Amino acid sequence: MAARSSALLAVLVLLAVSFLAGAKADFDDQFEVIGDRDHIGYRDDGKDKGQEFSLELDQESGSGFKSKAKYLFGEFEVKMKLVDGNSAGTVTSFYLTSGESATHDEIDIEFMGNSSGDPYVMNTNVWASGDGKKEHQFYLWFDPSADFHTYKITWNPKNIIFEVDGVPVRTFKKYDGLPFPSSRPMTVHATLWDGSYWATQHGTVKIHWRHHPFVVPYKAYHANGCVHDKATNKTACPAGSDAWMRRELGEEELKTVAWAERNCLSYNYCADGWRFPKGFPGECGRDL
Ligand SMILES: *[C@@H]1O[C@H](CO)[C@@H](O)[C@H](O)[C@H]1NC(C)=O
Ligand SMILES: *[C@@H]1O[C@H](CO)[C@@H](O)[C@H](O)[C@H]1NC(C)=O
Repeated sequence: MAARSSALLAVLVLLAVSFLAGAKADFDDQFEVIGDRDHIGYRDDGKDKGQEFSLELDQESGSGFKSKAKYLFGEFEVKMKLVDGNSAGTVTSFYLTSGESATHDEIDIEFMGNSSGDPYVMNTNVWASGDGKKEHQFYLWFDPSADFHTYKITWNPKNIIFEVDGVPVRTFKKYDGLPFPSSRPMTVHATLWDGSYWATQHGTVKIHWRHHPFVVPYKAYHANGCVHDKATNKTACPAGSDAWMRRELGEEELKTVAWAERNCLSYNYCADGWRFPKGFPGECGRDL
């Protein structure tokens, strides 16, 4: 009996180890580690639920991962469950960037943590040719640390759409003659880091290391984009890309954006006259 149960245990351990190895191999196929590999966790929830990766932040370092593939347009989605309790000072992100240069492009979703009981802020931003003062920030209609929720960026030549659980909350349109990310391929990043100097209540509330390590699980990552090959400077779009390549918000979806602006928006760069004393950026006065 004992022999049999230890054999069973051995099989279970082997299964768990091979599941983990599978999750890790899958991770390594798709991503590069940012920071310390020890700060990344892997879990395989089986064929239907897919892989879960977790990022950890402690006093030594934060962590992250970025896609090996570079994309020029696409749709990018992940489920995240944010740090709960006292998350002040932490920043959790899911974003696209073309790199570090002064003229880089970027499309951001980032969450600025808060003291227990105070609301998280979801910051969305678009950078085009190094210009990135285009934030819309939201208090979500749910507690993003209580459970997994889906965050999605759609990026095509006409607009960028930010969605939360399938609800469009922002669209950033391309207008003739105004900056829009449309030529620099981008990689997809997910990071968790200490943003104490800036993130929470304008940097006045710092991270509380007493509560560390901070852990954020990511799952159901999905990138469906035109892949750019640096060697040949060619971009190949997958079958079915038309659906998101042409996507713009219809009347009903624009209503949800207006709803989010009325009920959830906590900061809008187009209403921050103090920051733009010489006049607002060109896109501010345009209709969606
Ligand atoms: C944190 O909570 C305070 C108080 O409710 C709020 O003013 C602030 O916008 C919240 N978020 C951040 C990131 O500071
Ligand atoms: C890559 O192709 C684009 C147009 O498709 C062009 O604008 C760019 O200059 C090319 N880059 C290089 C390094 O050849």
